Amino acid sequence: MNILLTGGAGYIGSHTLIELISEHHSVVVVDNLSNSNKESLTRVEQITGVKIPFYEADIRDRDALEVVFSAHNFDCCIHFAGLKAVGDSVTHPWEYYDNNIGGTLVLVDVMRKHGCKNIIFSSSATVYGEPSMIPITEECPKGHCTNPYGWTKWMIEEILTDLHTADVKKDDSNPWNVVLLRYFNPIGAHKSGLIGENPNGIPTNLMPYITQVAVGKLDKLHVYGNDYNTPDGTGVRDYIHVVDLARGHVKALQAIENNCGIAVYNLGTGKGYSVLDVVHAFEEANSVQIPYVIEQRRPGDVGICYSASDKAFIELGWKAHYDIVDMCRDSWKWQKMNPNGYESL
Ligand code: NAD
Ligand code: UD1
Repeated sequence: MNILLTGGAGYIGSHTLIELISEHHSVVVVDNLSNSNKESLTRVEQITGVKIPFYEADIRDRDALEVVFSAHNFDCCIHFAGLKAVGDSVTHPWEYYDNNIGGTLVLVDVMRKHGCKNIIFSSSATVYGEPSMIPITEECPKGHCTNPYGWTKWMIEEILTDLHTADVKKDDSNPWNVVLLRYFNPIGAHKSGLIGENPNGIPTNLMPYITQVAVGKLDKLHVYGNDYNTPDGTGVRDYIHVVDLARGHVKALQAIENNCGIAVYNLGTGKGYSVLDVVHAFEEANSVQIPYVIEQRRPGDVGICYSASDKAFIELGWKAHYDIVDMCRDSWKWQKMNPNGYESL
């Protein structure tokens, strides 16, 4: 297939490029580099031996998207582009609604004008809010999000669903096919250590914080709460290797090919690990110590969040293969080889 990746220079996009190329898909990337570095694409080219057509453009820029869509015939768009820092979204809500929702509105308008009505969207387990069931199936009702970032995912899911529903109602001969992928907690990196997560400033997510403690950039980990109703009191999440997540996108193309209409899949492992489980797994996998202190709970956090991922297995034949030790090993390899991320270049 000919596939457009918006946000393809980012963490998940760059890993997905490799998996798409290895399955012989043609790819084009649009990214405004607001949270990424073009070097990630150079590294993907190094890994795959394939030149990646790249447009440095903002998806809110209709004219720029017109140029891209006029130059290529896309079968599908995998839409990663978006701002994703939860805390930042609380202080800059307008920027998040404008970028994530405004960007998606322009993108889908240009797509439909060019007859490409197949989209795979990067959603998040955050749409479940405080989940009403554990493990979380796709039938779990969407919940109340605790931040603007979460609401953008929640609303974009609704927008894309409505586009499909409207087409069906008016008997459109080329209706939208929409795959909503709800990611759990992606960590890890490509086994080469050449690409990985490259957070700006002090990381807010657990794994990049741990790797920066391990590499000596940060003193110690702050564990947010040990009084949750979990085996050791610390928060439990469903960590998934980014390469497994990337392969989920390749499998999701099958749903598009089968004219799925609307399809929703959780991408997780189905296993929950606590913060301290991750710390101990990291220490064992890499023979490094991670000093930590227990702090108050972080506002907005839920105690337990992990997926039921059977639906993706039954319908797409996808399941995660890597375990927590692999994730810790690969995250550390990336950090060790690139102590300052892509910025060290
Ligand atoms: P990332 O920041 O590494 O990648 C996003 C990319 O989009 C970046 O390269 C950025 O420069 C680009 N971008 C942002 N706004 C843009 C715009 N207006 N026009 C063009 N490019 C733009 O993030 P990621 O971790 O790779 O996440 C990819 C997607 O998955 C995001 O939509 C994110 O919200 C979603 N997601 C991520 C996680 C996670 O834990 N990483 C979890 C759930 C969902
Ligand atoms: C967060 C976001 C989620 C987003 C995801 C990926 C919130 C409430 N949720 O998920 O919307 O999709 O990131 O960007 O922010 N922890 C520590 N110390 C740290 C960092 C984290 O103890 O320094 C704990 C957290 O309390 C949590 C677990 O580690 O229990 C995972 O946290 P994190 O990596 O931030 O992911 P989520 O909060 O699950």
